[in-house]
Amino acid sequence: MDTHLITSRHNLEGDDPIFRINTLAQSRKSQGHPVINLSVGALLDDEGQLVILKTVREVWNSLTPSDIHPYAPILGDPEFIEAITHRYWPKAKTPILGCASPGATGALVVSLRNLLEPGQTLFTFAPGWSPYGTLAFENKVILKEVPYPLESNPSSLNTTESQLSEVMKEQGRILFWLNDPCHNPTGQHITTSDRKKLFEIFDRLSQKGPVSVILDFAYLEYARDFTRVKNILDEYAQWGSSSSVLLGASLSISKPLTLYGARCGALIFPWRTDDQLKKALATSCRGTFSNAPRAPQSLAKKLYKDPNHVMQLNSEQRAWSTILTNRADQLSHQLSEKNIHHSYFDGGFFITTPHSNPEKITQVLQQDDIYLIPLKNEIRIALCALKEKEIPRLVDSLSRHF
Ligand SMILES: Cc1ncc(COP(=O)(O)O)c(C=O)c1O
Repeated sequence: MDTHLITSRHNLEGDDPIFRINTLAQSRKSQGHPVINLSVGALLDDEGQLVILKTVREVWNSLTPSDIHPYAPILGDPEFIEAITHRYWPKAKTPILGCASPGATGALVVSLRNLLEPGQTLFTFAPGWSPYGTLAFENKVILKEVPYPLESNPSSLNTTESQLSEVMKEQGRILFWLNDPCHNPTGQHITTSDRKKLFEIFDRLSQKGPVSVILDFAYLEYARDFTRVKNILDEYAQWGSSSSVLLGASLSISKPLTLYGARCGALIFPWRTDDQLKKALATSCRGTFSNAPRAPQSLAKKLYKDPNHVMQLNSEQRAWSTILTNRADQLSHQLSEKNIHHSYFDGGFFITTPHSNPEKITQVLQQDDIYLIPLKNEIRIALCALKEKEIPRLVDSLSRHF
């Protein structure tokens, strides 16, 4: 036992299954085994190479020393915050209240620091992005998952409302991280009617105490249908500008610009102008990472403000969403032929298949050199890393072991 480590951290599990399984898959691959590594969370082409968007490279190469070297302002470059917000809500009024952050991860942390007291409960839909639990733990709050609203479970939103009401009674406030559209890991959007019901639930709750909802949509550039995504964003904007619920969003350039390593994002509240909230965000930035990296903010600002670059970027992103959708449809067709249930792909990098013992089945599949991530009640399949030619082998192995 290391006595330098404080006691409360002695019994941490310290086991990130994604890291563990990915390391195993890579080691087998380097030994020449025919590995299908679906533990990856980045977009790969059909040769297994990391996709790097050309438009992004072009703009990156045009950055000048002053775009890169100086510290960024504590809250981030206001033009970056404006540009990244307008990418999703072009009509949002400037200046935008928000801060730049190291990825959406940083934005989520800032939301925890400002919208919940230590020891309180944070909500999200199950299954959530697995690091949500770690972010909650590190920031001394408890993560509670409520069932994702599915057509097959029409009463799930009633369950959600009663759980939220209980916690509102106990702690006098609610924070909900809402991963929509293009939910990770199911690849689904909430339906319009369920979204409306959800707004009503949050509105009712907000009569009892402050309710904050942070949208976390890391994957929406990779959707099957862009008009639908645009309509969903409009639904959120309409609600956010008319409700007493505090609606914000954690934004990222990791997936949208294939710039995972640049660590850039933002926490924004486009429908608020509260000076106290602005000061609180600045304190969190200073107290956690001082200020977010300057270079990716300069890049995103230049790219999103130039209509030619935006056109080029959109066409690259659409080409990749078509490839992801094709992978999803082929996989879905073959899974259905074998009667393997799975989530319907609206967009993103993943889908899921339900299973009663995900840990065991993912271990068994490793005997066929297929590496998938077990979740609580399902298995995550990374379409982003699934080569088209690997689909029959994956389905064959799943159908033999399910
Ligand atoms: C749902 C979700 N939110 C947030 C993030 C964090 O993204 P970033 O790289 O911007 O920190 C991810 C990354 O995988 C994600 O899947």
